[in-house]
Amino acid sequence: MKINKCLFPAAGYGTRFLPATKATPKEMLPILTKPLIQYGVEEAVEAGIRTMAIVTGRGKRAIEDHFDISYELEHQIKGGSKEALLSEIRSLIGQCTFSYTRQIEMRGLGHAILTGETLIGDEPFAVVLADDLCSNGDDGVLKQMMEVYDRYQCSIVAIEEIPLDQTHKYGVIAGDLVDNTNDTYRVTDMVEKPEPKDAPTNMAIIGRYILTPDIFNILRDTKPGKGGEIQITDALLEQAKQGRVIAYKFKGRRFDCGSIDGFVEATNYFYKGSY
Ligand code: G1P
Repeated sequence: MKINKCLFPAAGYGTRFLPATKATPKEMLPILTKPLIQYGVEEAVEAGIRTMAIVTGRGKRAIEDHFDISYELEHQIKGGSKEALLSEIRSLIGQCTFSYTRQIEMRGLGHAILTGETLIGDEPFAVVLADDLCSNGDDGVLKQMMEVYDRYQCSIVAIEEIPLDQTHKYGVIAGDLVDNTNDTYRVTDMVEKPEPKDAPTNMAIIGRYILTPDIFNILRDTKPGKGGEIQITDALLEQAKQGRVIAYKFKGRRFDCGSIDGFVEATNYFYKGSY
C-alpha cells in the first residue's frame, strides 16, 4: 500500500529554547528564513506525500497560519521584489492539504502519534519530527525510506550511529543486517533512552518513521515507559518481536535542532549552502 500521509507530532513545549518558545511553537523556529516544520513538509513532498497531518497543542496556532494564505501580506508585497520570498511556501500550500488535531495532554510521543489516528485512518504513514532536520540534496531521508518500505512492507525507522555516551537521548536499536545490504537491519531489540551501559548498540533512531497502522492498537495498550510517557519505541518493539521493523541507516546529514548546538550547526550549514 502506498504511503500518502505524513504525521507531524508538534505539540511539545520546546522548553530547551525558552524564552523563544514561550509564545512561538518550537516547530516555527527558523533555520535561516524557513521554519523547521517547513523543511519537514518539503521532505515529505519530495517523497511524494501530499497529505500533511499535524498534531498540535495549545499555543501552536502559528503553524496553521504558516500553511495558509495571508491575504493582507500578499496584497502588501504584490508586484514588488519581496514577492518571490513567498513562492516556496505558496507552492507547498498549493500542492498539499494540511489537517490538524490537538493533543490535549502531553503524554509522550507514542500518545501524540495515537492522537493522530483520526487524521491517518487505517493506512501506513510517515512520521517526521521537525526538530530533526535532515539534508541530502534531492534524495531526502523520507524518500529513501519509502524505497525501503516498498521492499519490506513493514514499519521502518531511520537510524544513525552516535557516540556511546549519547544513548540516553535516543531510542536505540539492535538488529541483524538483512542479506546483501550494509545499511538495513531487521530489528531485534529497541530501548528508549538507555544509559550507555544498558544500550544494546550505538545505533540511534532519528525522527523519521514509516509505521503500519496496527501501531495504533499497539499504542492503545502500551503502558507509560521511560519518563512516565507512552513511547513509540515501546510500541515498535512489539512489532519488532514479530520481525516487522526494519532499521535503515540513511544517507545524508541530520541536525538535532531540538538542541542549541544542533540548531547553530544547522544554521551554519544552510547558510554556507545558500551563497
Ligand atoms: C524521540 C523518541 C526517540 C528518538 C528521538 C529522535 O525522543 O522518543 O526514541 O530517538 O525522538 O529525535 P525526543 O527527542 O522527542 O525526546
